[in-house]
Amino acid sequence: MRFYEISNRLNFDYKLSHYLNPVQIIKTDHWFEQLEQGLNNLGIRYPIIITTNGNRNRLQLEQKFSSNFIFSNFGNNPNFSDCNNGIKFCENKSIDGVIAIGGGSAMDLAKVILAYLSSNETKIKKLINTKLEFPNKIPSIFLPTTHGTASEVTMWGTIWNIKEKKKYSISHPELYPDIAILDGNLTLTLPLDISIITVMDALSHSFEAIWNKNANKNSTKFAIISICSIISNIEKFKNQPSNLKLRNKLLEASTIAGLAFSNTKTAAAHSISYPLTIRYNIPHGVASSLSLLPLLKINGSFIKNELNNICKNLGLSYEELNACIANIPKHIIPFKLNLWGVKKNHINKLAEESFTKGRMDNNIVDLNINDVRDILYSIY
Ligand SMILES: [Fe+2]
Repeated sequence: MRFYEISNRLNFDYKLSHYLNPVQIIKTDHWFEQLEQGLNNLGIRYPIIITTNGNRNRLQLEQKFSSNFIFSNFGNNPNFSDCNNGIKFCENKSIDGVIAIGGGSAMDLAKVILAYLSSNETKIKKLINTKLEFPNKIPSIFLPTTHGTASEVTMWGTIWNIKEKKKYSISHPELYPDIAILDGNLTLTLPLDISIITVMDALSHSFEAIWNKNANKNSTKFAIISICSIISNIEKFKNQPSNLKLRNKLLEASTIAGLAFSNTKTAAAHSISYPLTIRYNIPHGVASSLSLLPLLKINGSFIKNELNNICKNLGLSYEELNACIANIPKHIIPFKLNLWGVKKNHINKLAEESFTKGRMDNNIVDLNINDVRDILYSIY
């Protein structure tokens, strides 16, 4: 199913105009059949499968693919060393395609491997060059097992440099996957807390796409669809985390958020999140959403129409919308900086480190260090 079919299904009056996202999205209840078909269509015979150890076992991937071609030796938040291990794993193998099965970590790492296989460049800092040539572009199929990252429909991935305590992005138009397969069955075993963390990431992607200097009519419509779907399903989901229909809705909402921010990139909330993750290991979905409500307050008057649209669709007042967002992580994940071990006297330093070029400057309101410091204190 293509993305415009998703928006039709959501009864949103949407017209394709100047929108670019080349990923073919297939929604299914039978991910493996669709994967086999996709491999066939793309002419892939010897794929590398990049997945987590958990998915490798749960999905019995060794019964489906040769274990010599399954790479799962990496942790959360892939770092330079994980990337180097992945590149070494590919040596002396004739790989003609990439399959990523997992959350952000597996999919982001898969983009590094995809760049390496397509360019033959082995140095990570050269791989992340946006002007890198891809003379042997190989095809890829991505299957998200969480409903947050949306890496299945973007052309970038995040890599962390532990030594430098720095976040890097790999980004290249050739890194859009060819096919994204969405099957809620792949998300069913995700524990409730991680499920909520990934939903918060998707919510952050949507808001960031709206309060963004790069926003366009179409990205904003996608973002509004995603926010409305998340808010209207999340409380039911908390009571029924095994409900496949709800999982599919959240997965679809996450991908639609990806369709929004794939055209805008993220903004202040994500920029603020990076030092929180690298310094305090705060999971990405928490770090990227802790500042959502203070940013909504700051950015709100510049996105009045969009907020009105969201509130109207949901039948909520602006205050009720704020309350719904605040309620999502309540009693499930710690949602204050001090609960993640952040030291109060570290806030100045965190504020200084929050200004990632190409993210913070996308925010519709230009923030200075005092603004960010105030935001961090308000969520302490
Ligand atoms: Fe994110």
